[in-house]
Amino acid sequence: MNTMIVKIQSEGDSFSPQEEMALRQAGEIIKNGGLVAFPTETVYGLGGDGLNRESSRKIYAAKGRPPDNPLIIHICRLEDIYPIVGDFPEAARKAAEAFWPGPLTMVLPKSGKVPFETTGGLDTVAVRFPSHPVARKLIGFSGGYVAAPSANLSGKPSPTAAKYVIEDLEGRIDMILDGGEDEIGLESTILDMTVTPPQILRPGFITKEMLEGVLGEIGTDITIINPESSQAPKAPGMKYRHYAPKGELTIVEGSPEQVVDYVNRSAAEDRAAGEKTGVIAASDFLGGYCADVVKCVGSREEEEGIARKLYAILREFDDEGVTRIYSEGFDSQGLGQAIMNRLLKAAGHNVVRL
Ligand code: TXA
Ligand code: MG
Repeated sequence: MNTMIVKIQSEGDSFSPQEEMALRQAGEIIKNGGLVAFPTETVYGLGGDGLNRESSRKIYAAKGRPPDNPLIIHICRLEDIYPIVGDFPEAARKAAEAFWPGPLTMVLPKSGKVPFETTGGLDTVAVRFPSHPVARKLIGFSGGYVAAPSANLSGKPSPTAAKYVIEDLEGRIDMILDGGEDEIGLESTILDMTVTPPQILRPGFITKEMLEGVLGEIGTDITIINPESSQAPKAPGMKYRHYAPKGELTIVEGSPEQVVDYVNRSAAEDRAAGEKTGVIAASDFLGGYCADVVKCVGSREEEEGIARKLYAILREFDDEGVTRIYSEGFDSQGLGQAIMNRLLKAAGHNVVRL
């Protein structure tokens, strides 16, 4: 399949006539059952018609994704939520008012309009109203309901720029809209609104503290807090070893001196054994590390920057053929919880505590 790649670089909500035309064409592709990758404020999405079971099947096939892992339906007007949910409770309304459009996904009972192919067989549907102008315009031209997982091959880090979508999906989908780099870099927060209190199934840019400020008490899926829990995560996708770099990743926690010392000793042993070694570190102690490739993920003072860079760094290690990766751990409060959650999954929960 020939994949069309179109740049949409305009600032804000205004598009050139050419861009407007490309977005219309992308919308037609989705309406006709095809697939289009597009930027959002979190990561790139792989969009198809969320109300068309064939489109959902195609999405799973293009990504190589297990079909029991449900898709998020993206909307571009609040009122469009009513036809796809069985119930829109007061708390969900409040959260929508506070955080939509934006990086929050809410799980609600689904209506009969939503095919089970889209929800991976579940009676609930995940709904998100993104803020990215390209995403919103495209959803409008596509009929209003775009099912979109992250636009990566299953098991790879989510793409934060079009070049990563091209790497993974060129030749497998109809079109890629290149809107530059995504602002946030980690997937949306998923909040289950079918339980009381509402429960976080995947941490993200909208933090527990922010949600509590609007909704009061918020729970967190036990499998996020305690990865050793034998329970299955409630967001089916969270059970897969996602975001995985090819190299073996170990997270090392302890005092900065201990961490630097442990990483340097381990990396030296690995190199002696013929491995190519890499380190992911914040700017603070960067100079202390000794490995084949040392990457700075940003300053601990600025967690937004770390979130934005993390997936690109994991992909770069793959490109550079690094086989053993060590990463510093991060604070697990606020946005740090989302960063640590993704890092732990990339590491398959391989953590050394000194
Ligand atoms: O930021 C995002 O959410 C991005 C962009 C493209 O919008 N999308 C995204 O989709 O991350 P995906 O498919 O990569 O992750 C969706 C997650 C999976 O873990 C899935 O299991 C969970 O959402 N999910 C979807 N529907 C669900 C439902 N009805 N109940 C529980 N979890 C659900
Ligand atoms: Mg994904």
